[in-house]
Amino acid sequence: MGGAVSAGEDNDDLIDNLKEAQYIRTEKVEQAFRAIDRGDYYLDGYRDGAYKDLAWKHGNIHLSAPCIYSEVMEALKLQPGLSFLNLGSGTGYLSTMVGLIIGPFGVNHGVELHKDVVEYAREKLDEFIKTSDSFDRFEFCEPVFVVGNCLEISTDSHQYDRVYCGAGVQKEQEDYMKVLLKVGGILVMPVEDQLTQITRTGQSTWESKNILAVSFAPLAQQNRGDGEKPDIVYLPPVTVRSLQDLSRIYIRRTLSSLAGEDGLGRSSVQRVLQKRKRRRCRRRRINTYVFVGNQLIPQTVESEEEEHGEEELKQQQQEEEEEEEERDIGDIEILKQVNLLRDQIMSLPLPESLKAYLLYYREK
Ligand SMILES: C[S@@+](CC[C@H](N)C(=O)[O-])C[C@H]1O[C@@H](n2cnc3c(N)ncnc32)[C@H](O)[C@@H]1O
Repeated sequence: MGGAVSAGEDNDDLIDNLKEAQYIRTEKVEQAFRAIDRGDYYLDGYRDGAYKDLAWKHGNIHLSAPCIYSEVMEALKLQPGLSFLNLGSGTGYLSTMVGLIIGPFGVNHGVELHKDVVEYAREKLDEFIKTSDSFDRFEFCEPVFVVGNCLEISTDSHQYDRVYCGAGVQKEQEDYMKVLLKVGGILVMPVEDQLTQITRTGQSTWESKNILAVSFAPLAQQNRGDGEKPDIVYLPPVTVRSLQDLSRIYIRRTLSSLAGEDGLGRSSVQRVLQKRKRRRCRRRRINTYVFVGNQLIPQTVESEEEEHGEEELKQQQQEEEEEEEERDIGDIEILKQVNLLRDQIMSLPLPESLKAYLLYYREK
């Protein structure tokens, strides 16, 4: 499934294409997609395929196509502070993007059938938290994944504001999914080859809307013998943050706004004036022939050429017969990614251990 938009060269390129094709329509969804590189969820050696609008499967690891994720993220209508449940959470790519929008006062849970996939998702999440600058540009609700069959969730589990199911749902499984929702909540899932958005409008009323024709692998079902009990899945508890954690969130929030960050990762690109690379004006000796009287005489004539770009400059240096002349042609503006929050924290007159705490012990 997928292939609706042209392939990108990198993550930003892919997002540009998804935006142009109207799959991404809101700024917060765009920022979440830009903040997380889809290639980081691919196995080493497969990354090249990450920026194509195609689903990817390798063993138990399975990612849906970018155009599907865009529609899903838009249809979920995410807001800060909401609770989210991802059924078939896979690599955690979608859950991590959701976490950037719902922020630290949200709830972010995922259920995945395969233990190895949950381990993979935890590794990827750890990598994101430790190494990505996006972590400091957004307020994040860390996803918590559990292993289990999402069709066997304990009946006394809490309900969620938003639910997504990443595998095909049959008509008779629809009611089971709908009760996982709070009143007013939104459920997005592929039901019989239609990506469907269901809004719970009351205790026993729902409204349904088809979004897109899709093709998903169906939810795996457990084959059990007669009388064999299901392995009930207990969802993670909804925990209250500690006072220490809350303080860290508010200190970071205050510092971010002082630094001009807006929580959507927009002001981390700084315009920097830099001396423009020198343009070389080179004189090249060209062997040519001139007529003197009626005779052709070989001559060396000097020609002038202007060159731009590093590659060409390197080549020029190798050409020994050239005479080079350099001149400075002023400043140009370049865009530089900066971590404003980190800079703010590092400049505080605080003990190093406290700075490290405020930075979530991130070294980058
Ligand atoms: C298309 S993938 C979803 C990928 C995910 N959205 C991501 O961001 O990586 C579907 C996932 O559903 C899982 N799955 C299928 N049936 C399941 C079930 N009954 N319970 C839990 N997970 C299931 C699969 O193992 C697979 O990881």
